Amino acid sequence: MNILFRNANIITHCERRLCDLLVQGEKISAIGNDLSADGADVVDCRGLNLLPGGVDPHAHLDLAMYGTVSSDDHYTGHRAAAFGGTTTVLDFTSQSRGGSLRGSIDDWYSKAEGNAAVDYSCHVNVTDFNSSVAAEIPSLPAQGLTTLKVFTAYNGRLRIGDDDIASVMRIAREQGMLVMLHAEDGDEIEALVGAALAAGKRKPIWHARTRPPRGEVLAGRRAIDLASDALAPLYVVHVTTAGLADNLYRARTRGVPVMGETCPHYLFFTEEHLKRPDGAKWVCSPPLRTVKDNMALWNALADGSIQTVGTDHCPFFFDGTKPIVYEDSPIAIAGKELGRKDFTLIPNGIPGIEHRLLLLWTFGVVSGRLSAMRFVELTASNPARIMGLYPRKGALLPGSDADIVLWDPAKQHTISASTAHMRTDYDLWEGVKLTGVPVRVYLRGRLLVDGERWLGRPGVGRFLHRQAGAPVL
Ligand code: URP
Ligand code: ZN
Ligand code: ZN
Repeated sequence: MNILFRNANIITHCERRLCDLLVQGEKISAIGNDLSADGADVVDCRGLNLLPGGVDPHAHLDLAMYGTVSSDDHYTGHRAAAFGGTTTVLDFTSQSRGGSLRGSIDDWYSKAEGNAAVDYSCHVNVTDFNSSVAAEIPSLPAQGLTTLKVFTAYNGRLRIGDDDIASVMRIAREQGMLVMLHAEDGDEIEALVGAALAAGKRKPIWHARTRPPRGEVLAGRRAIDLASDALAPLYVVHVTTAGLADNLYRARTRGVPVMGETCPHYLFFTEEHLKRPDGAKWVCSPPLRTVKDNMALWNALADGSIQTVGTDHCPFFFDGTKPIVYEDSPIAIAGKELGRKDFTLIPNGIPGIEHRLLLLWTFGVVSGRLSAMRFVELTASNPARIMGLYPRKGALLPGSDADIVLWDPAKQHTISASTAHMRTDYDLWEGVKLTGVPVRVYLRGRLLVDGERWLGRPGVGRFLHRQAGAPVL
């Protein structure tokens, strides 16, 4: 089916333009004035913005953690993403101890395939590095997998040593791949957690107190040095601190190929939220910081020190003993209540995949912190470029996938868990008022979301073969 979007206020990362856009089948075929309809369905877009579908570079769907699992799977998480204007979602594999990367990719793929409701791919976690894992990495780009995540925290589980990180970086550079870094100081966390538990400190605030900001800054700095030595591109995920944003800025001015990502929760919340009786809702890693960090991260988004906003969507029920109704069926999944007596047992993660564009629009664009073009850059075109998906995704160009969001900049909406589509029992942004929402969302020319109507289904999403050699932005 062909669709002609007439009189749309088209916004990309590099232009704003009032014109028409023609979709033929799954692709955008033309952009210009007075395009002829030729039997296409005509959508009158007067008063609406037309944006490329959002690209979320960071989500954890159906992720096993602390004896439970993140409560959105590849269908429900993608559905929620689509309601929020995101049409591409990148997830992560989980390498088991002694396991191969291939095994972790197969496990992940068996969860995603047939369930995906938007287009998708995954980053490959390298959490147990050895010579056979090293030998596997060069085979990944041919499978469309071009990104590797390493951790400097979660000792004994996910962390690999700095020497191994350096080796991963060297291989990644040779293969045109990108290393992504979770920056926290695993040794310091181990010591502080041990001391806190020994002193009987069990409340959620101790999650933040045992993962101090200096750990993120120091781990980030070490990795920046390694990337500089290896001449390898580095992308630091979920940056939370003014200090690391500043280090990224300085490294970039020295020509080190580093990039950064932050997440909506690090722009809005602080560790003070962890002191509330329901503080477990705000437990995520790295933890929330201070108002000063929130402000520094907004500035880093505006000044180019940080290149993307991902959600790190990793939802857990606040009380997984009480079912909610999701798509007409009751469901309860064990969640944050597992850590009621001990902060170290609270599953880490926050729901947010649905709200990324909405929050960034109201509190970024409407409030004057970001231009509309920068908004598109941070939420769609930069993640697509960095992750090897551009211009298929994140762009409105002839030949791009027709992933299109019709955005009503005047429409108001109040966030509530009762109307949101993420499969959880709470919403951190409950009651927040927004101006500007997606009213229609298309994936490859197919209407997925029409106002409140869901027209997608499991299996519509396609695995995306990503290109190695993506640019450093
Ligand atoms: O709390 C979080 N972010 N959980 C997901 C795991 C990670 O490190 O991104
Ligand atoms: Zn992480
Ligand atoms: Zn994450």
